[in-house]
Amino acid sequence: MKAKKQKNILLGVTAGVAIYKSCSLVRILRKRGFAVKVVMTPNATKLISSKLFESLTDEKVYAGMFEEISDYSLKHIALSKWADAFIVAPCSANTVAKLAHGICDNLLTSIALALPQNKPVVVAPAMNTNMWKNPVTRKNISQICEIKNYTIVNPQKGVLASFDKGEGVLAPLEDIVKQLKAALGK
Ligand SMILES: Cc1cc2nc3c(=O)[nH]c(=O)nc-3n(C[C@H](O)[C@H](O)[C@H](O)COP(=O)(O)O)c2cc1C
Repeated sequence: MKAKKQKNILLGVTAGVAIYKSCSLVRILRKRGFAVKVVMTPNATKLISSKLFESLTDEKVYAGMFEEISDYSLKHIALSKWADAFIVAPCSANTVAKLAHGICDNLLTSIALALPQNKPVVVAPAMNTNMWKNPVTRKNISQICEIKNYTIVNPQKGVLASFDKGEGVLAPLEDIVKQLKAALGK
């Protein structure tokens, strides 16, 4: 019997306080048999070192479009070809806005736009309640929901980083994996 090809998951990480949960998400995905590579926004690298994701994935972590002077390869194209699916978790309000409008001013958002439309994108936003409830974010989220290959995993109510209670806490990692598998038809 032919062995099933391992699915390649590209995990996009943005600068949200729930970034530490992305580390556990990498572990869960790898334990479930997925190959995982991580792309971070430049702001995300200010919150957590890419080295941590490199050790968790055993892969190079991608963050910059231009800073590696010796390497002008088209990373956004190569990574969008490599990925069978793209997860963005946590997805900041800022990146939600960029995804909704096709802004591609960093590697993560460029990959999102370059990704073939038959590949699933699972977006798990996490942010302060007011940011989540802001009409601008609501509009951005509803625009993303209209894109055929995108799934939004809504944040939940809970205790936020500020210790306020409200909506905006990253969805449970198991829910994100469940949505990924459903999107991949597994
Ligand atoms: C410690 C810290 C935690 C933050 N947490 C969040 C968050 O949970 N959600 C969010 O949308 N923005 C959060 N921000 C603000 C974002 O980092 C900021 O909007 C940034 O521009 C997002 O950049 P990116 O989308 O390119 O990663 C946080 C900022 C800091 C300094």
